[in-house]
Amino acid sequence: ATIPVIAIDGPTASGKGTVAQKVAQHLGFHYLDSGALYRLTALSAIRRSVAMTDEHGLAKSAEHLHCHFDGGHIFLANEDVTQAIRAEEVGNTASKIAVLATVRHALYGLQLSFRKAPGLVADGRDMGTVIFPHAPLKVFLTASVEARAQRRYKQLIDKGFPANMEDLSKDLRERDARDMNRASAPLKPAEGAYLLDTSDMTADEAVKQVLGWYAAL
Ligand code: C5P
Repeated sequence: ATIPVIAIDGPTASGKGTVAQKVAQHLGFHYLDSGALYRLTALSAIRRSVAMTDEHGLAKSAEHLHCHFDGGHIFLANEDVTQAIRAEEVGNTASKIAVLATVRHALYGLQLSFRKAPGLVADGRDMGTVIFPHAPLKVFLTASVEARAQRRYKQLIDKGFPANMEDLSKDLRERDARDMNRASAPLKPAEGAYLLDTSDMTADEAVKQVLGWYAAL
């Protein structure tokens, strides 16, 4: 039997990370935070002073990513970078290097390797369009820029990072534009994806909807 995948895509701060993790927990499935791989690549490149113009160096950073995921913590080499990769600078750098087809290609196999029994919930920008196009359930989560800026603000403050609503909204718009307009794996709903606008929904309501779609397959 094939191992089921639930692909959850959407823009920055749409709530897909929270929703995907809860769905995975509920079903006892594995979880792939594909954005973390781009963030890890960005952090690794920043640490090794790889220039943002050095496409080859950036692809190498992706290809030789020594990372592992353990009990909700994320490690680069053997350093716990769970917090460090959430910094805005790292997210911004991740979004810039994510336009590079060489970087995306270098992370392809690693993403596929997360598909293990009994199943996988994968969240990102291209889970349903590129990485797992045959996933039996694909969801495209959206939310208004205002709702997303508000959530990101709360997340950052809770984690002890400085944050400013105006900067965050501007940043979200820029990141959306970069994700949607890039040539390689642009952010868009996959064919057959269910659309879910979570602007006025709690995470648990969104989880319930996704589980409902899954149960109805
Ligand atoms: O989801 P998250 O904000 O952690 O992702 C960081 C960046 O990585 C995104 O802004 C996006 O540009 C990129 N990304 C991507 N494809 C994915 C996941 C993330 O291009 N599947």
